[in-house]
Amino acid sequence: MGETKPLVAITCRVPESGLRLLEARYQIKRNPSEQPLPAAELARFVKGAHAILADLRDKIDARILDAAGKQLKIVANYAVGYDNIDLAAALRRKVAVTNTPGVLTEAVAEHVFALLAAVARRIVEADRFVRQGRFQGWEPDLFVGPQLGGKTLGVLGLGRIGTRVARLGALGYRMKIIYYDRGQKSRQLGAELGAEAVSLRRLLTASDILTLHVPLTPKTRHLIGRTELLSMKKTAILINTSRGPVVDEQALANALAGRVIFGAGIDVFEFEPKISARLLKLPNLVVTPHIASATAEARDQMAVLAAKNIISVLEGRLPLDPVQS
Ligand code: DGY
Repeated sequence: MGETKPLVAITCRVPESGLRLLEARYQIKRNPSEQPLPAAELARFVKGAHAILADLRDKIDARILDAAGKQLKIVANYAVGYDNIDLAAALRRKVAVTNTPGVLTEAVAEHVFALLAAVARRIVEADRFVRQGRFQGWEPDLFVGPQLGGKTLGVLGLGRIGTRVARLGALGYRMKIIYYDRGQKSRQLGAELGAEAVSLRRLLTASDILTLHVPLTPKTRHLIGRTELLSMKKTAILINTSRGPVVDEQALANALAGRVIFGAGIDVFEFEPKISARLLKLPNLVVTPHIASATAEARDQMAVLAAKNIISVLEGRLPLDPVQS
């Protein structure tokens, strides 16, 4: 009798690129449903797995890790963010946790500018206006919005994505770049783009556009709330492609309704997938359903990276993209 192959439990739909790599080596168990599994079903689903390929909707906590069993070696998250995983619980059980950094940087940075252009040039409102048959011809003040070229782009969080956004803003739109990353300075971006490290307070008050690129942690939850929004320019635009709870959604709804800022482009939500009805009524808000990384290229590479992390760990090597060591 041949040796039993290790079991990989895949909780979500992943592109063939990654699946093929795993199917060639392991027994695969796939979530038959289109939806993420509720906790109790997830616990049953992962039982006996040596690796779990999860996505950001799966809450991987101590209970799920224990339900998998002692043979579990790795949870590979099909995302760059990993706030859905209890890292301490994984560490205690010597389970590696990996993410997919780098391969979605371009996609997310592009989405930042898609949202930004949509908010500034009021694309969604204008599209609706035309479709409703309300376009009667050119008008001098129809859907006037701010120009983006030459404006000050504030980047909160200067990781891979924040850095790419800064480059696109500076090189594509001639924007002045200011950034805040826990007081750290990037000599490279300073020399290359003239980017300036500033305090959080200055980032809020001086940015024409504020784009968020921080992970969700207890420190970043509601980092942008009422006080922060009130300190921003009345003409400012807020873009969030990081995690919903970084922004206090009620405070944002108040700020947009009261025209405290010009507008916002939001891809992620505080209580995702629930979105407050009040927020959705606001014309100066553009929303997308957590799709910033949704390019075919990024998703393919995310799947390959998640698979390679699993292979590396199940073959007794170190994970390629550990989120903790
Ligand atoms: C991530 O990777 O964290 C994105 O939010 C989803 O791709």
